[in-house]
Amino acid sequence: MNISIVGSGYVGIVTGIGFAEMGNNVIFVDVDPGKIEIINKKEPPIFEKGLKELMKKNKEAYYATDNYIDAILNSDITFICVGTPSNPDGSIDLSQVMGAAKSVAEVLAKKDDFHVVAVKSTVVPGTTEEVIIPTLEKHSKKGAFVDFGVAVTPEFLREGEAVDDFFNPDRVVIGSEDERTRKILDELHSPFKCPKLFVDLKTAEMIKYASNAFLATKISFANEIGNICKKLGIDSYKVFEGVGLDHRINPSFFRAGLGFGGSCFPKDVKALIAKAERLGYNPKLLKTVLEINDMQPAMMIDLLKKHLGNLSDKRIGLLGLTFKPDTDDIRESRAIILVKQLLKENAKVFAYDPVAIEKFKRLYSDVEYASSAQELVDNVDAVLIVTEWREFENVDYRGKIVIDGRRILKAREAKVYEGLCW
Ligand code: UGA
Repeated sequence: MNISIVGSGYVGIVTGIGFAEMGNNVIFVDVDPGKIEIINKKEPPIFEKGLKELMKKNKEAYYATDNYIDAILNSDITFICVGTPSNPDGSIDLSQVMGAAKSVAEVLAKKDDFHVVAVKSTVVPGTTEEVIIPTLEKHSKKGAFVDFGVAVTPEFLREGEAVDDFFNPDRVVIGSEDERTRKILDELHSPFKCPKLFVDLKTAEMIKYASNAFLATKISFANEIGNICKKLGIDSYKVFEGVGLDHRINPSFFRAGLGFGGSCFPKDVKALIAKAERLGYNPKLLKTVLEINDMQPAMMIDLLKKHLGNLSDKRIGLLGLTFKPDTDDIRESRAIILVKQLLKENAKVFAYDPVAIEKFKRLYSDVEYASSAQELVDNVDAVLIVTEWREFENVDYRGKIVIDGRRILKAREAKVYEGLCW
């Protein structure tokens, strides 16, 4: 099939290259000339395991452009994959989605063939029906479900594992209202052997939010139990090993510690809270999930003070700046909260990350950066482990004070070792 992808962030690029690998032709549309150039050089615009190889392998099957006319007229399906960041009140900012829908619609006005617009950007339940379809209809002067198809096809890709997740999904969710669109998307997804769920538009939107909200809840639950375990001298990882063996519960996403960051969980939980409140419902559980998540970095600082006392002029080393390993993404990273607090307390902050130092420098130039994890550990009064990069298992921590937010086993050799929830 011929596919166009609007927005080449990690969801857009992985989805497009994934479909190219499955034998489809793909056109990426982006407003960023830098990204277009990189993609057309057949290089990944982001750091994502396995992507570079796939882009080389399928180099004849895709190209990037800023030209919507070219992209829409030469494809049968358009996936909207642009960002949906948070507004200051936590609700989602739909400006990029609306911009994309308007640009697509202006070309649909000139296109005779049936075309499917599939929303892959994460949008709160009701958005496609209430906002995106009216925009498409207004600017194309055509009717949804009749002249063109509309679908919601949420993604469940983890950064760092996105390529693998694309090819091995647990499920494919297709939200649509008309038979023709459903058939086209069913065919496109036919190589996937996992369960396929066909639902209406807003159910598909809610499946995405409920999935992320549940995973965030699971982490905050693990952290709450972990915080109680810490007070009792119990290793919460042992507890969750026992808990996770119950098949109704499942062992994953119980890694207690510093909590969740990234571009998805914090934003999506906030957006769902904002939506619920607008509907007149107070989502108490979801609010507490965020509260517990915000507490974890503060607990780490408390443990640090237990051993160092006043932090003024103390050299504190942060191991890891990204929101999780195997990505260069620092959005909502726990490192940001920790650095802010440490600088507020007049500590001298030293930091190391295998890939994200340059990005972090743009936010914090008053932090000193080490060129290796070992250099950092050797030159500080205490170490905070913020991200579980594999290489942190090869550092010599002997003689040091280490507060571990991510459970690096080797760090237990430190003179003083404190796990956040164990
Ligand atoms: C998350 C979901 O896992 C994906 O399914 C979803 O598609 C994606 O959001 C999205 O909405 O686009 P991602 O944010 O890339 O993916 O990362 P995760 O691997 O889920 O980790 C999120 C955060 O939770 C990280 O900061 C991680 O350190 C933290 N985490 C995860 C824990 O603190 N404990 C755990 O047990 C698991």
